[in-house]
Amino acid sequence: MANTAEPERRSFGSSILEAVAQRVHETKFAIGGLLGRGTPRPRELWEEQYRCGVWNYLDSASEIAHYMVIVGYVQHFCANPAILDVGCGHGRLLQLLEPYPFKSYLGVDFSAEAIERGHSLASGGARFERVDFEEFIPPDRYDVIIFSESIYYAPRPEEVLRRYMSALTPDGVMIVSMCQNRWQGSIWTALENVAEIVHSTAVTNELDLTWHVRVLRPNDAPTRREPPTS
Ligand SMILES: C[S@@+](CC[C@H](N)C(=O)[O-])C[C@H]1O[C@@H](n2cnc3c(N)ncnc32)[C@H](O)[C@@H]1O
Repeated sequence: MANTAEPERRSFGSSILEAVAQRVHETKFAIGGLLGRGTPRPRELWEEQYRCGVWNYLDSASEIAHYMVIVGYVQHFCANPAILDVGCGHGRLLQLLEPYPFKSYLGVDFSAEAIERGHSLASGGARFERVDFEEFIPPDRYDVIIFSESIYYAPRPEEVLRRYMSALTPDGVMIVSMCQNRWQGSIWTALENVAEIVHSTAVTNELDLTWHVRVLRPNDAPTRREPPTS
């Protein structure tokens, strides 16, 4: 199986046109990755795929490990955090965060289908908003800002990370997770231009897919507090 980041994990429709469109996207994804760039996909495509249940596999056992690394990092680095989840999809991460304490959770995504499903999960301090993360201006400060498999859909991941970093609290962290392909090294290198990787975990599932989940702090963060030890 080719180790491309996203597409092999899910089943697309079988038409030749769809297959060709998918290969074109994979090729753009690869070239973009080599240049440290992400590859945007039209919002309508996401809507269609959420409607058809293409992304339901994110709720499967095969996907649990990479989400749980994020959950663990959130708990380790931030006590009772205010969380911003950028490109949150249908809210799988919130479901896994929910047993643990957090002050607030805001999930943002530009897919109305995904956000509608998120709304059905939202309770207490959790809410969802439909926005394009390229344009969204975070209304608050957050202790943790998460990009779970979303930053590689930004044409300039480094610029997006830089912009969102200004919405961090002074000790706040960013958590970025990407399913690995052969080209994403350049995206990580680009992110390191603006942020320091303070912790990193790789997980591989039974389909031999690997995710790198990394905790980053702004390069110019005034203080570097050690995470709590308990
Ligand atoms: C692979 S899914 C990951 C979903 C979720 N973060 C997770 O890990 O379960 C990528 C998500 O990014 C969202 N997305 C892509 N480009 C976006 C943009 N410019 N603004 C907001 N959301 C975007 C898509 O709608 C999709 O829900």
